Amino acid sequence: MTTTTQSYGEDNFGFTTEQVHAGETVDGDVGARITPIYLTAGFVFDSFDHAQQRFAGEDGGLVYSRYANPTNTAVEAKITALERGVDSLLVASGQAAITVALLGILRSGDHLLSTPSLYEGSKTLFRENFERLGIEVEFVDDPHDIADWKRRVRPNTRAVYGETIPNPKNDLIDIGLIADFAREEGLPFVIDSTASTPYLIRPIEHGANIVVHSASKFLSGHGASLAGVVVDGGNFDWARYPDRFPQFSAPLGGPGSPSLNEKFGKTAYLEYTRTIIAGRLGPTLSPLNAFLLQQGLETLSLRVERHSRNSLAIATWLESQPEVTSVDYPGLASNPSHAIATKYYPRGTGSVFGFTLAGGTADARIIIDGLELFSRMSHMGDVRSLVLHPATTSHAHLSAADRERLGIYDGLVRLSVGIEDEADLIADLELAFTKLRVSDVLEAAASGVRENIVEPVTGALVE
Ligand SMILES: Cc1ncc(COP(=O)(O)O)c(C=O)c1O
Repeated sequence: MTTTTQSYGEDNFGFTTEQVHAGETVDGDVGARITPIYLTAGFVFDSFDHAQQRFAGEDGGLVYSRYANPTNTAVEAKITALERGVDSLLVASGQAAITVALLGILRSGDHLLSTPSLYEGSKTLFRENFERLGIEVEFVDDPHDIADWKRRVRPNTRAVYGETIPNPKNDLIDIGLIADFAREEGLPFVIDSTASTPYLIRPIEHGANIVVHSASKFLSGHGASLAGVVVDGGNFDWARYPDRFPQFSAPLGGPGSPSLNEKFGKTAYLEYTRTIIAGRLGPTLSPLNAFLLQQGLETLSLRVERHSRNSLAIATWLESQPEVTSVDYPGLASNPSHAIATKYYPRGTGSVFGFTLAGGTADARIIIDGLELFSRMSHMGDVRSLVLHPATTSHAHLSAADRERLGIYDGLVRLSVGIEDEADLIADLELAFTKLRVSDVLEAAASGVRENIVEPVTGALVE
């Protein structure tokens, strides 16, 4: 079989052209236009010698789908081009992507410095699972204060971590500022860009070194399957710090043999993470799910554009509702992150955000149960609009004081705004707010009736 791979990502084409064509393979024998699903565990060797050559990596051919598969490779090439990286690795979920990306750098005894506002699943992964592996994760108090970062660097610090648009608070970080700090300290900057996607920002162009995504979200868009991806920017000089990152500078096959740095240069990190970390721990993405991700990626810009437009309209509408005390959307001029949004996100600031209701959990319950178009779900970045109450679901395991500190108030409602028609989404929210107002009126009337009944009786008793 002959396949040819198109290469893009050189700024020759616009984003939408690239998302359709980058990485695509054209199957020369059959003529399949779309990279097919190569649903196979392994690949046949022509002979005894051929098997030996493949295992020695001599012809770069395929061995077993845990390491590489043509469907996955085509999707990896597309994402690499969109992110302006040098190579990518698909894995089974976003959590797997974060885990293998960091285990490609860190080992027991190492220290990771992180921004404080992160997806709660990453925090529990760091606090509980990484702690059991002997990796300590420390959170800075103020990610905008470089002195705070500097004060916390230790001899065993090995990486810096953050999220582009932190889930769920949207308290944006200044990527360039943190990237400059990380570079000066000789530390790779790993960033989760799930909520932004390369259509809104390419973190590598702002100095980040490794980008991770939960590809289950916007990159797929259909909500049909989970996936994760690690993108190597090829812009961290691992060879400069052989004592910190010995995995890339040690001879691969014993004394005298080349190291990963020598053999692979700019892709040394991704090679290590693919073969030694993911290849052995085994969170392989099924080629079937890679194919579904490929279908989603082809429409990424169109969806994210619509997601962002709908979100700004909904955030603006929410801000004018008297029951709402705050809207965490950086696209709003009133938001504390608006200046960073203007600097880094000219195409929009995504579509996952919260708003807080003055009436706490009781009001959140009425709004969430009152929505008909929004699905009550723990997911985001779907073409469908979704809604969740973080305080009683994703953040329920935290103490009330910790939730308060993180801004996860009882009245916080998180939306993942979909691509439906803006007017229909606002009408659905209007319906839910009307139900809230009716309920408030009924409650006031009921308490008035109670007062009218109780007072004369109490009065009688007092007399
Ligand atoms: C920012 C972020 N990163 C990673 C993940 C984990 O992704 P997955 O559910 O695909 O494992 C999520 C899930 O919501 C997320 O919001």
